[in-house]
Amino acid sequence: MKVAALSPALFQALTGGRRPGAPGSRIECHDRVVSTQDLLKEQLRQRPFPPDGTLVLAREQTAGRGRMGRTWLSPRDQGLWFSLLLPPAVRVSQAMRWVNGMLAATALCRVLRSYYGLEACLKFPNDVLVKRRKLAGFLLETCGRPGRLVLGAGINLFQERRELNRALGPWCTSVALEYRRPFSPYRFLDRYLRDLESLQQECQDDAGAIVRRAREYLYLSPEQATLRAGNRQLKGWIKDISPEHGILFQSLTGEQRFVPWGSVVTVTYESPEPPFSL
Ligand code: BTN
Repeated sequence: MKVAALSPALFQALTGGRRPGAPGSRIECHDRVVSTQDLLKEQLRQRPFPPDGTLVLAREQTAGRGRMGRTWLSPRDQGLWFSLLLPPAVRVSQAMRWVNGMLAATALCRVLRSYYGLEACLKFPNDVLVKRRKLAGFLLETCGRPGRLVLGAGINLFQERRELNRALGPWCTSVALEYRRPFSPYRFLDRYLRDLESLQQECQDDAGAIVRRAREYLYLSPEQATLRAGNRQLKGWIKDISPEHGILFQSLTGEQRFVPWGSVVTVTYESPEPPFSL
């Protein structure tokens, strides 16, 4: 899709009026980087430490990374590709990586539903789907000492069906494709950051509260999943997520068990959903 060049100045203007330390209270906007995730993590290894709420965004990434070492395609001006330093109050642990990914995805579901009227859902751990197609993904990584969580966000904004089919396949989508009206990427990011901040405040790093919110948007994928938990590998289906217990998982033999958040190492799905038409 022919879209206007994203403007660093308009992104930077979003910092105005933000509480110091709030998500996006400092925005660094680059033209082209390898990966915003790598750039922000590099800053965290140096002094002075980047201020809380730092958001590093790029118009284009040459080697964007997704979960499980996958490539994240980040074409110029087609989406929001950014990394955000989460507040120091957010605990760094395996469990909190999972639940904060869900929190980030939940905030996006809320924005897509309330401002754009899209039936957005969360596919565990932190994919955002609209009509079963992936619109956004999040990547949570730990970095630095003391450890901090870095949230990487890839939100498809302007790609057209043909481009997505060619690059990624029919199981991906973008805001423009679903919303079908003009919209501002700056207002979109502004709304997302505000919702993320209010969700962070509502939940106060309380895993139970975060999972309860995320569960309202949960899409239970029919695809078979593989869960690495501790040193076990489980194959089956995710049936639910529970604030107290973790993931309710049904094995191939039909047995159901809870896998605690802290022991889940990786989650992969057997294959992308087959192509389907709207
Ligand atoms: C996924 O669904 O696998 C997560 C994708 C995360 C992509 C974003 S784009 C901005 C940031 N920089 C990266 O290299 N990755 C994340």
